[in-house]
Formats: sequence, C-alpha cells, structure tokens
Amino acid sequence: MGAATATATPGRVWVITGCSSGLGKELALAVLKHNDRVIATSRNIGRLEELRKAGAATLQLDPNTDLALLRQFADEAINVYGKVDVLVNNAAYVAYGTIEETSPEYTLQQYQTNVFSVLNMSRAFLPHFRSRGTGVIASLGSIGSRLKSPNMGLYLGTKAALRSMHLALDLEVRPLGIQTCLIQPGRFRTPLLSSDGDTTNVRHADSDAALISAYDKLRSASIESSKAVHGRQLGDPALGAQRIYEVLTLSGMAQAKGEIPPELLLGTDAYEATKTILEQEIKVAEQWREVSCSTDFQDGLGVL
Ligand SMILES: NC(=O)c1ccc[n+]([C@@H]2O[C@H](COP(=O)([O-])OP(=O)(O)OC[C@H]3O[C@@H](n4cnc5c(N)ncnc54)[C@H](OP(=O)(O)O)[C@@H]3O)[C@@H](O)[C@H]2O)c1
Repeated sequence: MGAATATATPGRVWVITGCSSGLGKELALAVLKHNDRVIATSRNIGRLEELRKAGAATLQLDPNTDLALLRQFADEAINVYGKVDVLVNNAAYVAYGTIEETSPEYTLQQYQTNVFSVLNMSRAFLPHFRSRGTGVIASLGSIGSRLKSPNMGLYLGTKAALRSMHLALDLEVRPLGIQTCLIQPGRFRTPLLSSDGDTTNVRHADSDAALISAYDKLRSASIESSKAVHGRQLGDPALGAQRIYEVLTLSGMAQAKGEIPPELLLGTDAYEATKTILEQEIKVAEQWREVSCSTDFQDGLGVL
C-alpha cells in the first residue's frame, strides 16, 4: 500500500464500505450513474465483480481492522484517483440476542463493526479532508437509534452510540470545511434481516452463549417478526441510494437545501416513527416535569 502520488482527477471521488449488497451496492451504482467515481470496498473483493464491470474501482477492506491499517488503506484509496471527496461508512450487521444471553465478545464484535470501525475509518480519512479543507463523511445509522425492541438491544445500542458520536464529529469538523451526515434509514429491502444466503450479515444467536428458556418466546417472536418483514420492507434501496447521492451532493431533491444536514431520516417509516417517538418523549417529560425540575441550585448552570 503506497502513499498518495496520483494526480488529482476532476469530479467527485467516493469511498463506500460494505458494497457487496444492499444500500452500499446501490449507492455505488448511483454514484457511477452520475459520472462520479467510486471506490467500492468489501471484505470479499470477489463479490464486487458487478460493480467493477459497471466502472467502480474495487478494493478489499475489512473495516474491523486496526487504525494503522485503515490509515494505509486511506493512502491506497487516495492514490487511486489522487483524492477522496466523500467517505460513506455503510458496512454493518445485526446481532440479535437478549442482553443476558449474549456474551461480551459477541457484544464487542457488534460494536466493533457498527461503531468503532466507523470512527476509525473517519479518523483514517480526516487528515486528507483537513489538508484539503473539504470533504464529506456520511455514515449509515438507523432509525433504530431511537427505537426500543427486545432481542435487538445490541444493534440498536450501536446505532444510538453512533448517532451521539456522529453529531459530535459534525460539530468538530464542520468549522474545518468538512460536512458529515448520519443517514437514518427506516426499513429498506436489503439482505440486512435475511438469515439465508450470506449469514455473516445477520446473527440470530450468539454461538458462545447458552440460550435461556425464559427468553424462548420473546426470542422466537423477534426472529419471526424479522422474517415476516424481510422482503416486504417499505424502502426501495435504489431510490434510497439515489436520495443519499442527492443529499450528499446537494443535487436533485436536495438542490435548494444549501447545506448537507448532520442527520437525515430516510423513508416514510423513519419520518413517522421519529415524529411519534419525539411527541411521546415530550409528553412523558411534561408528565414528570415537576419531579425533573426539583433538583436545581439557584445559581447553577444547566446543559443548554
Ligand atoms: N436495510 C435496512 O432496513 C436498514 C435500516 C436501517 C439502517 N440500515 C443500515 O444501512 C447499512 C447498509 O445495510 P443494508 O441494509 O444495505 O444491509 P446489507 O445488504 O446486509 O449490507 C451491509 C454490508 O455490510 C457489510 N458487513 C456485514 N457484516 C459485516 C461485518 N461483520 N464486518 C464488516 N462488514 C460487514 C457487508 O459488506 P461486505 O460483505 O461487502 O464487506 C454487507 O454487504 C447498515 O449500516 C445498516 O445498519 C439498514
């Protein structure tokens, strides 16, 4: 893996992780359709043949690797077209399991992929973006960052953690000319919930943990509900990818918006669920207001 030596090319250059399926693959295709350049990555480069034939540069990358290797990868990616303009942290998977039944190792792996690798990829590309005074870091969060659901606490927890950190990142780098966007999809029709095919994209149970019969009903209800939704999700990944492209380039439906938003809901279900959840939270805050607001110093400073 060499240092960046290529001459910078005109037109945007994108790097997208986890491109062998779903939103990552569709976004790579949307980028190519708009005549931008894309470096599509996958843990298995053999699964990127379709994208390579469509014009993508392809690189093998497991984003779970350590920061030093990700920095080498960033140099390699920058070297392909002489620069990178947009980094999209897309790769993630769903680790099912109740909190009691899942092991620390299984939990750590879920956070490694869905949170730590996103932070480390961003750390690896930020020096390049800072030196150019421009760049976009977009990551796939989830409407799950605001949801509660048994048997999915680990996945939902990763997306909630990612949201807090991404919004902080935005405050840190926007003054430097770098824009960030946490994309919060509702349900999109991708292999994410599938337990067939590439089973590495979903884990229904922690193989190291003994299952506890007290959770049997809850566990099977959760698995059945995911199976029932799979293939019937509301969101069209091709349309989702097109909209992500437009928002990150302020074109199409986002043309008049002026600025890339730090956070974007994607899908009618994401929009409706967020509205309902926020309204409920305000209602509960009001119900408990007297108690909540009874612990202040007269001369203290609050969070806002
Ligand atoms: N589809 C939805 O309903 C939905 C809803 C909310 C949020 N999202 C988010 O959208 C993003 C894309 O998901 P998708 O729906 O397009 O699902 P997907 O088709 O399963 O794609 C996810 C990609 O992540 C990579 N990946 C899977 N397990 C991994 C692991 N252990 N380590 C590293 N990479 C791994 C895989 O890429 P490679 O095999 O090529 O490496 C896979 O193609 C994810 O961040 C997901 O959380 C999706």
